[in-house]
Amino acid sequence: MRRHMKQSRQHEHRVVNVDPTAVITTRHLVLRPAAVADAGEMVEVLADRALYEFIGGEPPTVAELEHRYQLLANRPIDAEEIWCNWIVRLAIDQRAVGFVQATVHPNGATLAWMIGVKYQGHHLASEAAQAVTTWLVRHGVDQDRLTAHIHPDNRASQVVAARIGLVTHGQFDDDGEALWTFGIQDRTAPAANSKRSVSLRGRNRRALSHLPFGHIAQRGSVSSQY
Ligand SMILES: CC(C)(COP(=O)(O)OP(=O)(O)OC[C@H]1O[C@@H](n2cnc3c(N)ncnc32)[C@H](O)[C@@H]1OP(=O)(O)O)[C@@H](O)C(=O)NCCC(=O)NCCS
Repeated sequence: MRRHMKQSRQHEHRVVNVDPTAVITTRHLVLRPAAVADAGEMVEVLADRALYEFIGGEPPTVAELEHRYQLLANRPIDAEEIWCNWIVRLAIDQRAVGFVQATVHPNGATLAWMIGVKYQGHHLASEAAQAVTTWLVRHGVDQDRLTAHIHPDNRASQVVAARIGLVTHGQFDDDGEALWTFGIQDRTAPAANSKRSVSLRGRNRRALSHLPFGHIAQRGSVSSQY
């Protein structure tokens, strides 16, 4: 019986109503879907090499960012995975300060965040990540299936994750990054897409390191945050 319940949960089909073109507002921020026109502004925000210390890669060029954002804009809305990529802007003057991503798949969603160096330390990542999390759950994503992959030495990102309620249980992906989730999941039977996404993550990151850490790779159901 218990086994049956576990299996039912694995195959549970949730109705997810996530619109990647949605705008999310918070007290201090506006999160707007990335557009090609954002590339020039974002290339400055993402220019510091320190941003890539734990996630790999390097600062993108304008052309790379434009290409990346164009891919996102062209992505079919009925794709199995929904790629949300919000530019985080200050509400007060609409200045771009970073981004938050959510890769939404049938079994949940993977979150990632980045804030430009000169804007860090002001709770911006925490506020943006909290808003995205709340929004995803409100639109049908199973909170217990929300995940972030965080390097064990990435203290700032760990603080953000903990602040929005994620916890880690000593589970690591193939890149050695810790899995942070909202609940204790059935780790003996990870969801197929999640597993695949994890296992291809490092390879994609290296192979596509020229891309500006979007939802890399982008064929079939392969996904990654960087
Ligand atoms: C992770 C990141 C998004 C955090 O952005 P941020 O806007 O500065 O985050 P917040 O201000 O909301 O919270 C960061 C917290 O970490 C703390 N922190 C930062 N560096 C730290 C360190 N080395 N050790 C301990 N705490 C640290 C900050 O003090 C802050 O906590 P506080 O609010 O209690 O002071 C930003 O550092 C970043 O973009 N890093 C590079 C990209 C990256 O690694 N992304 C995460 C991938 S999983």
